Amino acid sequence: MRPKPPPGTVLGRLDELPDPGARASDWEGGAVVLVRRGETVTAFTNLCPHAGLPLCLPDGRGLLHKGETLVCSVHGASFDAMSGDCTGGPAAGDRLMAISVELVGSEIRAS
Ligand code: FES
Repeated sequence: MRPKPPPGTVLGRLDELPDPGARASDWEGGAVVLVRRGETVTAFTNLCPHAGLPLCLPDGRGLLHKGETLVCSVHGASFDAMSGDCTGGPAAGDRLMAISVELVGSEIRAS
């Protein structure tokens, strides 16, 4: 299990994320994946419930399909980028662990 960031932890900056796009946070070696759609950011533990491996690629890039679906880079399970619910693939019926975040200026902080 990966750690959850304490409230107030800076996880990244809005201008460092592609729009739309997803990227692993630098916090704890990429323990959180940040998903940006415009000024909206959601965050999840960067751990796929299928096999317990990171969702993101080794270089930190997250795979966001059509700005709506986060795709696991290992076996292709897909997750709703807002809710974290699995929408297809080998993690069917499971979901990502959501991390609540807020924007403070351009900083993305755990809340
Ligand atoms: S580890 Fe993510 S789909 Fe298998």
